[in-house]
Amino acid sequence: MMDSYFRGTMWMLLVLFTLPHLNCVEVCPNSCMCNFLGAVKCVGYTITDIPKQLPVNTYLLQLNGTNMNVIHQQSLAEMNLLLRFSLTHSHLHTIHPRAFQVAPQLKSVKLSSNDLSTLPAQVFSPLRTLDQLHLDGNKLETIAPDMFEGLVGLLDLDLSRNKLNNPPSDVFDGLTNLNFLNLGRNLIRKLQPTIFHSLTKLVYLFIYNNELEVLETGIFDGLVNLEELKLHQNHITSLPPQVFWSLRNLKVLTLSSNRLKAIPEKSFYNMPKIRKLTIYNNPLLSLPDQLMGHMPDIKEFYLYATNLTTVPGNLFSNMSGLLTLNFHLNDWLYELPSDLFCCLPKLYKLSLKANKLVYLHPQLFSRLTTLDILLLADNKLQSLPEEIFRGLGELVLINLSNNKLKTVPGNIFSSNTVLKSVFLSGNPWNCTCTIRGIAKWIRHNEHVVSDRDGVLCHSPAKHLHHTIGSLSDEELNHCNTTYKSYYIHNVLHEPTTTPPTTTSITTQEATQQTTIQTSTPTTKPPVLPTTGLSTSLKTFTTKPPNSPPFYDMLVIEQGPEFVHHVVHKDWVYVWTLPSDTALVGLLMVCHILLVVTGLFLIFAAMYGMYCLNKTTDGLKAECAHILG
Ligand SMILES: *[C@@H]1O[C@H](CO)[C@@H](O)[C@H](O)[C@H]1NC(C)=O
Ligand SMILES: *[C@@H]1O[C@H](CO)[C@@H](O)[C@H](O)[C@H]1NC(C)=O
Ligand SMILES: *[C@@H]1O[C@H](CO)[C@@H](O)[C@H](O)[C@H]1NC(C)=O
Ligand SMILES: *[C@@H]1O[C@H](CO)[C@@H](O)[C@H](O)[C@H]1NC(C)=O
Ligand SMILES: *[C@@H]1O[C@H](CO)[C@@H](O)[C@H](O)[C@H]1NC(C)=O
Ligand SMILES: *[C@@H]1O[C@H](CO)[C@@H](O)[C@H](O)[C@H]1NC(C)=O
Repeated sequence: MMDSYFRGTMWMLLVLFTLPHLNCVEVCPNSCMCNFLGAVKCVGYTITDIPKQLPVNTYLLQLNGTNMNVIHQQSLAEMNLLLRFSLTHSHLHTIHPRAFQVAPQLKSVKLSSNDLSTLPAQVFSPLRTLDQLHLDGNKLETIAPDMFEGLVGLLDLDLSRNKLNNPPSDVFDGLTNLNFLNLGRNLIRKLQPTIFHSLTKLVYLFIYNNELEVLETGIFDGLVNLEELKLHQNHITSLPPQVFWSLRNLKVLTLSSNRLKAIPEKSFYNMPKIRKLTIYNNPLLSLPDQLMGHMPDIKEFYLYATNLTTVPGNLFSNMSGLLTLNFHLNDWLYELPSDLFCCLPKLYKLSLKANKLVYLHPQLFSRLTTLDILLLADNKLQSLPEEIFRGLGELVLINLSNNKLKTVPGNIFSSNTVLKSVFLSGNPWNCTCTIRGIAKWIRHNEHVVSDRDGVLCHSPAKHLHHTIGSLSDEELNHCNTTYKSYYIHNVLHEPTTTPPTTTSITTQEATQQTTIQTSTPTTKPPVLPTTGLSTSLKTFTTKPPNSPPFYDMLVIEQGPEFVHHVVHKDWVYVWTLPSDTALVGLLMVCHILLVVTGLFLIFAAMYGMYCLNKTTDGLKAECAHILG
């Protein structure tokens, strides 16, 4: 009796364990792959409905690339163990209104990449335990407000890549457990202010690639668990103040590629966990003095393709974790505050390339002691202060290519002891005595100047296209000027390629009249400046604030002979007379003229005397003749 009982049990176990397995192998339909755990995958255009005779233990059924355009009322019938169903890339256009009533146990339905343009009313509502619903990649334009009613267990809802434009304000009400919501790549223009208010457990909210123009005040209120909010590639023109303030767990926020011209003060406060924040590719005109809250976890920040002309000095001061700062390709950025990089103790890469920088404050980089890579290429730099790279003991690479440098101080790299690569090409190097110092450095550090064959003289004519490294000290002919006076001289006499749109500069034949605005750094220039003289003068003279005003320093060797200035309504008007070379030339000509005139007069007098003498002789002879 015991024995037969035991034997029976054995048989049962054997049947239980082997049958499904055998079934799988034997029953798996054509075009499908089945595994013994109950996962079935079917592919191909021969499939027009759910294959019959699937293994009885099928819990996962994936149909991809099929010809099944309709889910019929009975398509999913008699599959009581099926939990996860997907029908993708299949031109599905119709779902029977009661298609899911026969399979209320489903936990996952994925209908991605089909042709659905409408959904029957409440078609998913029988699925009380549904946790995943993917409808992405269809042609849905609208969604009925009650479409997701009753799906309280839903965790993951993907509606991306449709044609939605104005989802109803209560469409997500009741989805209190939702974790992931993707509305990206639709045509959404407007989102109602309360649309997300039930979604208190939401962690990921993607609204990128839409046509949103505004964000309503309070739209993200209550999303205290949100970690990723993606809003990039929309048409957002403005943000309401404090719109992100509820999002204290936010780690990723993307606002790039919108139409923001400004960002409200303190917008990024209360985001202590933020790791990724993007605001690049917006036509930003200015940023507020207080913008970034404490964000120690941020590692990378991109601020490019904006219309910023400058930024507040404390912009990065709370982003203390930054390793990489890519602040480049800003077409209007010509000036940086001296303390901008004050508080970035971990920064190792700073890219400022392809901005319009004209001037760098001597202390700008002084605190970036961990910096490895500094990219300054493709700017408008005309000169560099001697101490600009001082203290950057870990600097390995500096790129100064394609600027307007005519020379740089000879000891500019003296404290960059581990420097491996310097790029200096594409600058109009002036191969006169002014370049002697840096030329010597280049000769001694040839291996460091990575593009040394492109570091060419641009003037004077006799050295045109020679590499700096090939010129000896003797060839750099002697002219006794100090670098500083050279600098001022050149800044003042730099010809402007495009005259500024303001009337700040007028150049006349004999005299130069230069107008310099000595505004405080906070007031913005009236018109976005073009590159050139006005900018360099302004930055040179008004920054740093404690340095003496420029006109105290202006009378210098090699400089203009006479300088006059008048201060009027915050503007300083400066007149200069022609520089000494022209004056000396004029004097020389006068001198020669005088000498020639003198000689002429002397000769004329002598000739007169001679004539007089001759006449008197003649008279004398005539008298003698008459008398005689
Ligand atoms: C489904 O099919 C499409 C093309 O028909 C293919 O691109 C895609 O990778 C397939 N997906 C899966 C999960 O097999
Ligand atoms: C830095 O963050 C703190 C805390 O959020 C804030 O009080 C401070 O004003 C911020 N600084 C700047 C310059 O925004
Ligand atoms: C930003 O600059 C671009 C060119 O650099 C210009 O076309 C655009 O009009 C500017 N936008 C604003 C708002 O100034
Ligand atoms: C330096 O800048 C020039 C000009 O933009 C560029 O061609 C070159 O690749 C840059 N080199 C490095 C190492 O960044
Ligand atoms: C080059 O430097 C010399 C000496 O300072 C100066 O006289 C000359 O004008 C400069 N040339 C150019 C093109 O700047
Ligand atoms: C250059 O000028 C300085 C004073 O400006 C003078 O002390 C120095 O001796 C001069 N050097 C030469 C080589 O003439």
